[in-house]
Amino acid sequence: MPADVKSIIQEGAELTDKALEALLPPTGTVPASIHGAMRHSTFAGGKRLRPVLVMQAAATIAGHVPAGIERLGAAIEMIHTYSLIHDDLPALDNDDLRRGQPTCHKVYGEAIAILAGDALQTQAFEVLAGLDCPPSATVQIVGLVANAIGTVDGMIGGQVIDIESEHQKPTPELVEAIHRAKTGALIRVSVVAGGVYAGATAEDVARLDLFGRKAGLAFQIVDDVLDMTVDSAQLGKTAGKDLATEKATWPAVFGIEQSRRDAANLIDEAFAALEPYGAKAEGLKSVARYLVERSN
Ligand code: IPE
Ligand code: IPE
Ligand code: MG
Ligand code: MG
Ligand code: MG
Repeated sequence: MPADVKSIIQEGAELTDKALEALLPPTGTVPASIHGAMRHSTFAGGKRLRPVLVMQAAATIAGHVPAGIERLGAAIEMIHTYSLIHDDLPALDNDDLRRGQPTCHKVYGEAIAILAGDALQTQAFEVLAGLDCPPSATVQIVGLVANAIGTVDGMIGGQVIDIESEHQKPTPELVEAIHRAKTGALIRVSVVAGGVYAGATAEDVARLDLFGRKAGLAFQIVDDVLDMTVDSAQLGKTAGKDLATEKATWPAVFGIEQSRRDAANLIDEAFAALEPYGAKAEGLKSVARYLVERSN
């Protein structure tokens, strides 16, 4: 990874971790089991790429990373972590390993894992409601995030189609719909919400939305490729699961090489949306490049 993007990601991840540490109830808080579970999954070692996208999208609009934005990133990371806890449940993907640790339900049991996911989502909206930006921006962000993780072209809708499409031969249209919704929507809203926090106009929002849509789809294509090409130790989650469960993945439709090319092309297309920002978009572009060049 080039030095500049490495430090952007490292600094963004550190800011996010500090915010998460301050925002999540301490482990001993009653009822202790759920707070332990929320922290177990949150601090198991995620890459924090969504919060970093939030910050770099904001910097694209404002010219700098605005104060307090780490709490927006932390809220989105709570939502992402909730989605992982539920994704790993026996009723969904049934995974034992996540972020290099035993999954939440393996350690705390299914009931507490389900509730820990619910709680992370609830806590995220409490954090969003208290963001340090103009009230109109806060309300806009709350609506955008809720929409992105909902059932219509959003994360939950995508998870539903993903589960219901197992063991079938996927079409290009189906896999694109799944990927845009289950993963793309949260990536897209990370970018858009970061921009709104920094004072984006409607035009800025449209550009960031287009960028986020393409980068979000590319991200899930790469997730699918990594599942087939990297081992569990490096991934921090069980490799080879998609083939074993006959998931509707990009490589299942297009093959691994075409998938890699598609992800790279999507990032190039995404960059075009950022042209008006010139050098102010360099950080966001470098993080987007990392989304498809990463090895875990
Ligand atoms: C994994 O996301 C789950 C998907 C939505 C594909 P990440 O690869 O960002 O996972 P963490 O946060 O680093 O664990
Ligand atoms: C997960 O997609 C998407 C969400 C959690 C919403 P995957 O099932 O492909 O993610 P991994 O591979 O388990 O991380
Ligand atoms: Mg899944
Ligand atoms: Mg999964
Ligand atoms: Mg996957």
